[in-house]
Amino acid sequence: MNSDHKADFLVVANRLPVDRKTDADGNPVWRTSPGGLVTALEPVMKRKGGAWVGWHGAPDETIEGFEHEGYQIVPVPLGEQEVEEFYEGFSNATLWPLYHDCVAPPEFHREWWDTYKAVNQRFAQAAADVAEQGATVWVQDYQLHLVPSMLRELRPDLRIGFFLHIPFPPKELFQQVPWRKELVEGLLGADLVGFQLPGGASNFIRLARRLSGVEALGDTITMPDGRRVRARAYPISIDADGFKALAEDPAVQEEAAQLRENLGNPKKIFLGIDRLDYTKGLRQRIRAFGELFRDDELDPAESVFLQVATPSRERVEEYKKLRDDIDLLVGRINSQEGDIGNPVIAYRHDSFPRTTMAAMYSIADVMVVTPLRDGMNLVAKEYIACHPDDEGALVLSEFAGAAKELKQAYIVNPHDLNGMKKTLVKAATDSPKQRARRMKAMRKQVFSHQIDDWANDFLHDLGV
Ligand code: F6P
Repeated sequence: MNSDHKADFLVVANRLPVDRKTDADGNPVWRTSPGGLVTALEPVMKRKGGAWVGWHGAPDETIEGFEHEGYQIVPVPLGEQEVEEFYEGFSNATLWPLYHDCVAPPEFHREWWDTYKAVNQRFAQAAADVAEQGATVWVQDYQLHLVPSMLRELRPDLRIGFFLHIPFPPKELFQQVPWRKELVEGLLGADLVGFQLPGGASNFIRLARRLSGVEALGDTITMPDGRRVRARAYPISIDADGFKALAEDPAVQEEAAQLRENLGNPKKIFLGIDRLDYTKGLRQRIRAFGELFRDDELDPAESVFLQVATPSRERVEEYKKLRDDIDLLVGRINSQEGDIGNPVIAYRHDSFPRTTMAAMYSIADVMVVTPLRDGMNLVAKEYIACHPDDEGALVLSEFAGAAKELKQAYIVNPHDLNGMKKTLVKAATDSPKQRARRMKAMRKQVFSHQIDDWANDFLHDLGV
């Protein structure tokens, strides 16, 4: 930021990159949130005197902007009703299920849409207020679909990028939304629109042609005023070196040994780590394990399935329902297949620090990532990064974006329970040589395309 608090590079995202914690003296302090996006963008932020515009996560509270790690934090407040209608409602009960193949029914409410527009306008205004003349603004994700065009309206001098972290659906599903034209035109305000996969980019281009009547050639759309909008794929990745270092840290290795001990030193550990979200295929995955233990294809004395489900969007109806279903399912399977003090499924509904996640990854013989639909899925990549040796195996859904890159994973269709069961057993019992061959190839992929490559590729194409 320069002296009059204007920034030359801005990120606009629903959430700020900081979490409020309490220090030893009981005072509130802001700590950098864990996560790849922040790690990747902090160097650019510092270099260019950047600002991050976002919500701090609590309703009905206005906080002042502040400097953090050499860049500016610009908070956007949300009222309680806005959290309900913009965040829990239109973002997470309309767009989220719609963009994930409608694996839960999307809800369409006119009041939610009105609030979504009003909140997007507030984010756009906040960005317009702090952007230097000719600055670059990078808008993130489905919560802020309308910000690119709103911002262009306010500040035509800006260079605007948008990245969608989740899938972009085909026309057949997208057409359901009553405000489809407005949503597409929201993104057309950007100079560059990034998607996880080429399929998302081509779905978007097709819809833009059809709904807005724009012309397109290859990945370039020409607007009626002659302005160009490019739509391309930039598959997101992780800080693989950082995860590798974590897995090799002696304290993490000690924690891993303790974890293994706590699980009863089983011969085979299967692991799932997901946000508790209905897109992640948890119901299907847990049923598959229940049947494997029931039919003696997995021996409870030798194998355990450790499933971590991180609490998420807990006030949204579908998430409440999912939590109850999983509790019931896990309880039933353990009561039938496990022994006293020896559950076959070790289930935790909790979030853990990155160090503990790395410890879990490193003890897992088989990592199970079986979403019904997922933009990318970074857990799959983190697992590979935490296995610098050739140990381990990844079972991966064909419906995760990561399957396009991690082709040597044990690929499954999570709707096909029998197929998934067979593949889980194969992943656990294949020869060390076969497993090592797959891990080696995937490691090459993960380490050669890390999170900073993703950010640099996007920003390079945006002209930064
Ligand atoms: O994958 C999309 C995403 O919005 C991520 O950016 C975020 O980490 C995750 O879902 C959880 O989202 P939230 O808790 O903000 O609803």
